[in-house]
Amino acid sequence: MTAATMAAMTAATTAAALDPLPVLKGFASLRRLTGTYPAGHPMITQKLKELGDLVNEGLRLDRSLRIDVIRSDVYLDGVPSNGVNQANQQIIRELSGLGIDSIHIREGVRLEELQTVAEFLWQYRDSAGESVAAQLARRHVEHISLGKLLPLDTRWRVQQWPDAPTGPLDPDYAESILLAQQAFEDTAAGKPLDVVTVSDLVQLLIYKVARSNAALGHILAVKLYENLTYCHSVNVAMLSLLLGRQVGLDEPTMAALVEAALLHDIGKTRIPLEIVKKPGAERRLIEAHTTFGAEILIQTQGLRPLTAIVALEHHRGLKGGGYPDLGDAVPHPMSQIVSVADIYEAITGARSYQDPTLPEHACLILARLAGDKLNTCLVKAFVNAITFFPLGSLVRTSRDELGVVVQTNRGDPLHPVLTLVADGIEGPLGRIDTAARDVSGAYERHIRETLRPPEGLDLGRLLALEQAAV
Ligand SMILES: [Fe+2]
Repeated sequence: MTAATMAAMTAATTAAALDPLPVLKGFASLRRLTGTYPAGHPMITQKLKELGDLVNEGLRLDRSLRIDVIRSDVYLDGVPSNGVNQANQQIIRELSGLGIDSIHIREGVRLEELQTVAEFLWQYRDSAGESVAAQLARRHVEHISLGKLLPLDTRWRVQQWPDAPTGPLDPDYAESILLAQQAFEDTAAGKPLDVVTVSDLVQLLIYKVARSNAALGHILAVKLYENLTYCHSVNVAMLSLLLGRQVGLDEPTMAALVEAALLHDIGKTRIPLEIVKKPGAERRLIEAHTTFGAEILIQTQGLRPLTAIVALEHHRGLKGGGYPDLGDAVPHPMSQIVSVADIYEAITGARSYQDPTLPEHACLILARLAGDKLNTCLVKAFVNAITFFPLGSLVRTSRDELGVVVQTNRGDPLHPVLTLVADGIEGPLGRIDTAARDVSGAYERHIRETLRPPEGLDLGRLLALEQAAV
């Protein structure tokens, strides 16, 4: 029996014996009582004793209790409780409404700590100031941690951004996203990974999507949607392919690279859609998507061995940092390629908590990571492959013209070819080559700045129109 299975069984046994709901209810009532009555009031003392007994009963079965509220369901050590009903929903909302979705109680907890946490929850206001952990430490709470649920980059609580590209897409790109969605959702539902879909996707990406300027424009430029894992995976596969091509990989190696890049995050299908970022143990759960991924991929017949290696290593640094901890082993060159593509894709995409980073800033971030986390030669090759102004970037020239990059000049990456657009980003209004020079030999214009495309702008459509016009 594996350690993971044993841990799951222990958790399941604990869950069978202890219902986490009364503990949550206990905290909720104690919180209200401490806000209503003075310290030492008999009602507080009584409630505190009840809560203490419950917690100690749970701790007799296991050395720690971790209660998470994930999308209105209560989990004890990752196992869902089935006792949630309408009345309990109110209590759950009360706690998670504070922005606290996780309570972790460890062996040795004292009654005073339970009371301090209840008082803290009464006064707590979610703000960007001191961290919850620091505030609890200041109150001498050592055996209880409180955490917030943060969405993974597989996002479900989307606020300001749609969760997938909108508008008419390049048909091959749209099909590849659909195929990836199907493969990922089936795997998340516990079905085996469909290797036929995977190999179809690899072919589609190499032979069709990589040849479409509109699709590449979508992938390289700022993305005004919150990448679900399957979109992210398709995009990382395409970016890895661009980088692979730039460094001269042959066709079979390229196919292996695209397969591995496509499945590098497949382990996320084993993690609840929203999980607790802190305290430390939950962080480890996010990081486990690398080992979960390798496990899934090793057990899938028909995939290349490299695919599991890349899933395992794609968050490892060149000099041995990152996760999982594999000593100072240098990641496989294909893992190094996927790391570069993965980071670029992640930072140029929107997040519910952060606007997307513009492509040239993303290149600077890659440059900062080069040498320590990323392979310097690969970062250089990547920036060269996509240029500072990738296809689809919206830019303003020194003559105050607005344009979309439709072609890059190999020998002059800072002066791409643009299709001009009107101020309302309507067009195309015709092409200009910013590498053109006047009679004196000076450039006629430069790119002055990259702009974040306005929401709703369909760059793919614009590029397709432009291509049809040429
Ligand atoms: Fe990842």
